[in-house]
Amino acid sequence: MKLFQDRVAIVTGGASGIGEAVVRDLVNEGARVVIADFDEAGAGRLADELGRDVALPFKVDVSNAQAVESTVSFAVAQWGGLHLAVNNAGIGAPSTPLADIDIDDWHRVLGVDLHSVFYGLKYQIPAMIASGGGAIVNMASILGAVGWAGSAAYVTSKHALVGMTKTAALDYAGQGIRVNAIGPAFVETPALGKTMTDEERSVLAQKHAFNRLARPEEIAAVTSFILSDRASFMTGTYYPVDGGYLAV
Ligand SMILES: NC(=O)c1ccc[n+]([C@@H]2O[C@H](COP(=O)([O-])OP(=O)(O)OC[C@H]3O[C@@H](n4cnc5c(N)ncnc54)[C@H](O)[C@@H]3O)[C@@H](O)[C@H]2O)c1
Repeated sequence: MKLFQDRVAIVTGGASGIGEAVVRDLVNEGARVVIADFDEAGAGRLADELGRDVALPFKVDVSNAQAVESTVSFAVAQWGGLHLAVNNAGIGAPSTPLADIDIDDWHRVLGVDLHSVFYGLKYQIPAMIASGGGAIVNMASILGAVGWAGSAAYVTSKHALVGMTKTAALDYAGQGIRVNAIGPAFVETPALGKTMTDEERSVLAQKHAFNRLARPEEIAAVTSFILSDRASFMTGTYYPVDGGYLAV
């Protein structure tokens, strides 16, 4: 029996990087997954590869509450319920000292990295309760636990996301909903590739005890574990997956 047989999932930001690895893992373990992403073409390609009987693309801007609500309605309309969600879509921003951050940029980052998670929980949780219970993973970062110079909007979003996760877990534990957050350290994804030179990547690798960055599959494996019934006593946790970054 596969871990997620007969379960329906939504993965935001599922077209690339960590989200893509999560989608692949969930489908491998028997779930049917809505790949909710701004990148419609990328989500469509992944759905075609995995098979549209188990993966469907849905174009969404997660910073738009109505669009997030529509994603949940789509999943329920297509597959009759919702049991799993990974609120993973996120963006970074150019390194800027806090006082120099443009106010529109601040709101843009918080919209995609933080408010999106509130919208996700707000609409996913009632659908999961109606489906008999469920589990949610919110994608934080090690920057949900420690700071990073020049990234106040991102770091603020990820810290706040951890608090939101804990509170949602307390609000809904009695109704069969588990809510947890994962804190990856630096992961080899397209997002990181866009902003890093090879030399910067090597310096970054040295901040991890393993002297390398994570592979997206390593984050997906922990995500799947926490979503699965094997983690039935886990809720309200923030779980770093960081190659020793925070142990230094
Ligand atoms: N890569 C890392 O080192 C790292 C480390 C810790 C945490 N994270 C977190 O993991 C998550 C995924 O990051 P990644 O590195 O896989 O990024 P990525 O850029 O490879 O993938 C992000 C996906 O989100 C989608 N997306 C972006 N904005 C969106 C929006 N407004 N609405 C819908 N979809 C949107 C993109 O189209 C893309 O497919 C993010 O929340 C990020 O903060 C990443």
